[in-house]
Amino acid sequence: MTATLIDGRAVAERLRERVAARTAELAQHGLIPGLAVVLVGEDPASQVYVGSKTKQAAAAGLRHFDHRLPATTSTAELIALVEKLNAQADVHGILVQLPLPAGVDSAAVLAAIDPDKDVDGFHAVNAGRLALGQEATVPCTPLGCLILIREATRELAGKRAVVVGRSNIVGKPMAQLLLQNDCTVTIAHSRTRDLAQLCREADILVAAIGRPKAIAGDWIRPGAIVIDVGINRIVGPDGKNKLVGDVDFEAALPHAGAITPVPGGVGPMTIACLLMNTVNAAIRSKAGAVGAPLGVK
Ligand code: GUN
Repeated sequence: MTATLIDGRAVAERLRERVAARTAELAQHGLIPGLAVVLVGEDPASQVYVGSKTKQAAAAGLRHFDHRLPATTSTAELIALVEKLNAQADVHGILVQLPLPAGVDSAAVLAAIDPDKDVDGFHAVNAGRLALGQEATVPCTPLGCLILIREATRELAGKRAVVVGRSNIVGKPMAQLLLQNDCTVTIAHSRTRDLAQLCREADILVAAIGRPKAIAGDWIRPGAIVIDVGINRIVGPDGKNKLVGDVDFEAALPHAGAITPVPGGVGPMTIACLLMNTVNAAIRSKAGAVGAPLGVK
């Protein structure tokens, strides 16, 4: 058996098209979803991410407001900016790019974001709403993973799901989403005993560990859906830099039923979900006057 590839680039493109179509409809109501992006300092990777976010937002018809601040910006100055954006009517989503420079209290800055404009879904109110099964803004990466899982199967109820990684941004919200979809969920982490055996029980395996090829091929249950969140830069056998996931992809192929590649799997979904969250924040700000938010198909 060779696994079916789950094509994150194609799925993300379709999602961006749905977002663009809904944005065009909203324009008929005079509503243009607005995303404020705050970048502090000169981190090169963050600059690339933020560039992609604003470019894709513009391509989907969203408005974006860029705030680039020096690395010396204080926590108080950042909170003051967030409060200004909270009050700005044409801003529906606020994204503060992480990591913030050392010395800035990131938790305090994120907590200052109006939960209804928290398009990253990092605010405690959104984490709480998700845990309670209420309407919440869900962090973009796990939301993208759920969409990819649903590409592979519509029957999640009763499936055994193992999420490897317990971060607030991926592992924990991923587990909540799978639970909401009636999976039986286990969260594994660096202290989990016999991870290999646990993974072998998984009908759905989500790897979000941040270690290259940490999941071996024979850890995959035959036919399992494997979602690889890892993006690790390694030096390949040819001496060139290479991106690999947390799963040993080649070794997993004969075992898995469906698997996301790296690159081209989960990665492209994150920004597409950010655009969806922003459009949905704009829709919700009108309290039912412009129709229902976009859902996960
Ligand atoms: N840095 C890396 N990924 C992300 C993300 O999804 N959101 C924010 N705010 N910062 C990031």
